[in-house]
Amino acid sequence: MHIFIHYCVWAREANMDCLGLFILLMVQFFQWTTAPAAEEVTWSYAGLVGQSEWSQYFPDCGGTSQSPVDVVTTLIKYDPSLIPLTPLGYSQHGNKPFTMYNNGHTAVIELPEWMGVGGLPWLFTAVQMHLHWGSGGPSHGGSEHTVNGQSADAELHVVHYNSELYPNMSTAMTQSDGLAVLGILIETGEETNPAFNNILNYLSRIRHADQKVFIPAFDIQSLLPKDLGRYYRYNGSLTTPPCYQSVTWTLFNERVHISKAQLLRMETILYSSKAKDQRRMLLQDNYRATQPTNHRVAFASFSADSGKELSSGEVTAIVIGVMCGCVGLAVVVRFIVKTIRSTSSWDVLPSNQPAPMSRMKEPEKDNEKKQDMALNQTSEAEKKEEPSPSPQAEPN
Ligand SMILES: *[C@@H]1O[C@H](CO)[C@@H](O)[C@H](O)[C@H]1NC(C)=O
Ligand SMILES: *[C@@H]1O[C@H](CO)[C@@H](O)[C@H](O)[C@H]1NC(C)=O
Repeated sequence: MHIFIHYCVWAREANMDCLGLFILLMVQFFQWTTAPAAEEVTWSYAGLVGQSEWSQYFPDCGGTSQSPVDVVTTLIKYDPSLIPLTPLGYSQHGNKPFTMYNNGHTAVIELPEWMGVGGLPWLFTAVQMHLHWGSGGPSHGGSEHTVNGQSADAELHVVHYNSELYPNMSTAMTQSDGLAVLGILIETGEETNPAFNNILNYLSRIRHADQKVFIPAFDIQSLLPKDLGRYYRYNGSLTTPPCYQSVTWTLFNERVHISKAQLLRMETILYSSKAKDQRRMLLQDNYRATQPTNHRVAFASFSADSGKELSSGEVTAIVIGVMCGCVGLAVVVRFIVKTIRSTSSWDVLPSNQPAPMSRMKEPEKDNEKKQDMALNQTSEAEKKEEPSPSPQAEPN
């Protein structure tokens, strides 16, 4: 009200109608209070507030460093300073159960605070992990990141915050160096992946949004690929609203595999609707479309050729090449050894003394008596040897 009076004084001076201004301000105030706060907006992947509408409610979603992206391997830069990531405490899960819940967008598993990741410029502490998937089984999309335009069937994200610079996740998530997310592409294979059953077996307990379950603690590292040294790195964002551009992304090159039955379970068991909702909505296709790179460069911890899998033909060629090389080398070595043996017989001849003589010639310039004496002896030796022109010329 105080401010309003000030406005009135200002309005009178400006020759404006005080009542008119009051009405204007009231209308403005009404609009403020009825406009939904961004946090209350129910966003989704398709529908009323679908992906293309996110940026209207969450401005960062319209930013220039958004995730996910398509990783184009021909545009990747090799960065040898990218060292293997080291999961910290991933396997020391303790006895306390993990909390898993359905937030209407995915299944989230909260991670204990002693878990973290090393190998980044700062120490990052684990917060949670979650999954993205598609619908319709294998080869129908589901991953958020794509490689050369190709989707995987699903994707696991392990979210960490920069605990060296920030006190907690909520502070870190708005900072450009605040978060580190590990992305693991999931493919469908023949075999069941027992590690993923630690999650999938309990999805039936959180079918509806807002439901929560305690699940037995398990080894989180068993969900990751074996090779943590080969990965893609770029600066991006959260892939869900509010899309903060605070994520150092690590997308592993190696993929993990689950069975078709496991994939179908992931795709068909959860609802995005709440238990009390009349209409049940399956939670499917919870992946965001790839975003423009806007001249961002993605880096790789490995060079394109070094890890290329070799065909059996190439392997045969290499084996034959190496064998030929070994045989050739053996022949050369044998020849050299033979040559040395035959020439080394000269070394033992007593007349072969030219090297020490030449070394003794330099001190000759000195005038010290001791050396003079020594030199006299050598020069005598020299004279004795003069008749034989060269040791090599001596017959054996
Ligand atoms: C995070 O840290 C900030 C700053 O210390 C604090 O104000 C905030 O309450 C904390 N948030 C949570 C969720 O702990
Ligand atoms: C990410 O951004 C930071 C700060 O701008 C920069 O130092 C770093 O090199 C970037 N990393 C990548 C992988 O582009």
